[in-house]
Amino acid sequence: MRDIVAPESARWQAFTRIFGHNAAAAGYQLLIPPLMEDLGVFTRIGEATDVVTKEMYDFTDKGGRRVALRPEFTAGVCRAYAELRPLTPWKVWYSGSNFRYEKPQRGRYRQFDQVGVEVLGSDDAYVDVEVIALAWDFYRQLGLQQVTLVINSLGEPADRAAYVEALRQHFEAAGTTLSEQSRETLLKNPLRVLDSKRGEDAGSVESAPTISEFWSPEAGEHFATVQSGLTDLGIPFTLNQRLVRGLDYYRRTTFEFQGGTLDSAQNALGGGGRYDGLVESLGGPPTPGIGFSLGVDRTLLACSDEGVFSAPELAVQVFVVDTTGGREAMAITHELRRAGITADRAYDNRSMKAQMKAADRSGAQLAVIVGTDEQTAAAAMIRPMRGGEQFRVERNELVEQLRSQLTGHQ
Ligand code: HAM
Repeated sequence: MRDIVAPESARWQAFTRIFGHNAAAAGYQLLIPPLMEDLGVFTRIGEATDVVTKEMYDFTDKGGRRVALRPEFTAGVCRAYAELRPLTPWKVWYSGSNFRYEKPQRGRYRQFDQVGVEVLGSDDAYVDVEVIALAWDFYRQLGLQQVTLVINSLGEPADRAAYVEALRQHFEAAGTTLSEQSRETLLKNPLRVLDSKRGEDAGSVESAPTISEFWSPEAGEHFATVQSGLTDLGIPFTLNQRLVRGLDYYRRTTFEFQGGTLDSAQNALGGGGRYDGLVESLGGPPTPGIGFSLGVDRTLLACSDEGVFSAPELAVQVFVVDTTGGREAMAITHELRRAGITADRAYDNRSMKAQMKAADRSGAQLAVIVGTDEQTAAAAMIRPMRGGEQFRVERNELVEQLRSQLTGHQ
């Protein structure tokens, strides 16, 4: 787990703000689900996934309840839907931390943040397109050029089940040529064997049956509509029949956004898909759903690697220097902040030199300087910090004068 400090924290905040703005502009409402749920909510993600079996921060609370810190948002969103029964389509966005007990490395942390959206109550293929487009445009807005969209369909539940069975037979036939890890994975979840990057598995993975052979006509048609919608919107994508994703609840459309700069094990900057059936398994009515989550930590790493979306300017506009004891600076900074001018000051009655150094470090455009002369005359000096003559103004005209001097200030 990490501390996110400035200037990275400012970047982080800007990231979430832009995402939230985009989502709200597309009709999604902010949902703030609890950070912890009944353990049973998360086991619905699928008892065959590492996220549930190995990585969960679960414990017994003081009331003897089995609870867990959320490893992802989707299950909690569906639990909320089952409980609140809102009007559909229910379009929500969220942001916040998740917890998975994984082996930490660059781009993989035990506490990590996601932003994302979910749409519940519609199985319109164009909703899939809308959701994918929202993520795609966001990556574009960040300035990322090396992100690729990979899509697949896992078919209807029955198609998926038949495919899983076919994979089981295929990999069982491969027997001991499979790696030991894959043989273990095969017992729990044959789909995940397709994810294996181990050399000894490559041949069997390559020759494995593909999901499209198992699509029902409806699933095939739904997926064709998704693809034509993406093409209509000019969103490039790659089809990958091996894309199964790590969570078990997916049905039909699945997708992943892969970055170009991170190690292949951590190159998924975000992903999502349909999970028709999840709400039902949480005690709600049958409800289709689709969404995605983008990893904030990882996407920002990709931004750094590509040299885009740098931290926003942290500087204040005005720094107040007061050599008369600090009371003037206290009053002036307060007045400026109320007037909407960002301002900071030095404390502890430091020397003029020390305060000017602090003014410099603050990155302010202007310094306001109050010495004994100015104090007596109810005046203040304004000093442009990046060149130009300083000048004296009446104290009661200070705000107006600063406004007219500040570039970019309305
Ligand atoms: P996920 O693929 O497990 O999907 O996670 C989505 C993204 O979260 C990943 O692509 C990655 O960027 C980030 N992420 C996951 N684990 C870590 C980690 N340990 N450290 C850093 N980043 C990580 C989900 O969570 C689904 N709920 C997505 C979804 C929403 N499907 C439908 N709706």
